[in-house]
Amino acid sequence: MAAVADFLGFPEGGVAVVTGVASGIGHQLAIQLLAQNLTVIGLDINQAGLDALDLGSGFHPRLLNTADKDAVDALFPKLREEFGPIAYLANNAGPPSSAPLSIQEGLAQTAGSVQIMTAAWSKTPPPDGAAVVNVASVAGTFSGGPPPAVVADRIAAVGGIGNGWYGAGKAAIAGLTRYQAVMAAGAYRANAVAPGVIETPRIGDLTKGAYGKLMIERSPLGRLGQPDEVARVIAFLLSPASSFVNGVTLIIDGGGTLVY
Ligand SMILES: NC(=O)c1ccc[n+]([C@@H]2O[C@H](COP(=O)([O-])OP(=O)(O)OC[C@H]3O[C@@H](n4cnc5c(N)ncnc54)[C@H](O)[C@@H]3O)[C@@H](O)[C@H]2O)c1
Repeated sequence: MAAVADFLGFPEGGVAVVTGVASGIGHQLAIQLLAQNLTVIGLDINQAGLDALDLGSGFHPRLLNTADKDAVDALFPKLREEFGPIAYLANNAGPPSSAPLSIQEGLAQTAGSVQIMTAAWSKTPPPDGAAVVNVASVAGTFSGGPPPAVVADRIAAVGGIGNGWYGAGKAAIAGLTRYQAVMAAGAYRANAVAPGVIETPRIGDLTKGAYGKLMIERSPLGRLGQPDEVARVIAFLLSPASSFVNGVTLIIDGGGTLVY
């Protein structure tokens, strides 16, 4: 689908930071924001992935681990100097649910990195109309795990059953977003999105096995989501078109989690 039209109302010269830009949802979000004539600073931990992007002159890739507080704190003043006030932040980066992290490391890489990034960005400081969108997951509300009958299939498809840290970390992102929405005291709006299963590289061969097929059959729309379908909602929540939306976690799952 083509990029959304002018009703989003982004001001001329706006600057956005998108994390996890080298793949999936972050990549599609960069495309959407560039189509709105924003300058996009794209951050990722994957240098080869950044090098492979070809998004035009409005796009500025930078290597960064969003969970590395020292690196994040050092980067934002430099970005502010180079690009001017940064109005929009999309905290999209995060490890896949199959990553074998401890609960401490998982929380650090999900809610922890969102906190680090948002704190550093807010000190720049952002201009009027600023907004942050944090990427949570339906796994933050539901279990994030498969029904017992298809556990083996899920492990075969994505390399793991999903770990406790993922749902906990994504729930923490939703909670942190609500806190930001209140405590930012008018400096910026804060919202989150909670995608269902979206067809990005991290889901591997999920759709080919029993678990993926079950998800698709159960979904009211009969399919999984595409990364641009999440990116467009994030763009809306960043934009002036959502100026009175603050503190929500918007589920983007085609209604898939309504059915069990
Ligand atoms: N795909 C899904 O089904 C799904 C569902 C719900 C939520 N999400 C969330 O959406 C976000 C994007 O996921 P995706 O499916 O597009 O994944 P993806 O794996 O396609 O892309 C994630 C990108 O983030 C980068 N990244 C990971 N950790 C990083 C870090 N510490 N610092 C900087 N960059 C880092 C990776 O290198 C990669 O380029 C994630 O937060 C994910 O948890 C995805």
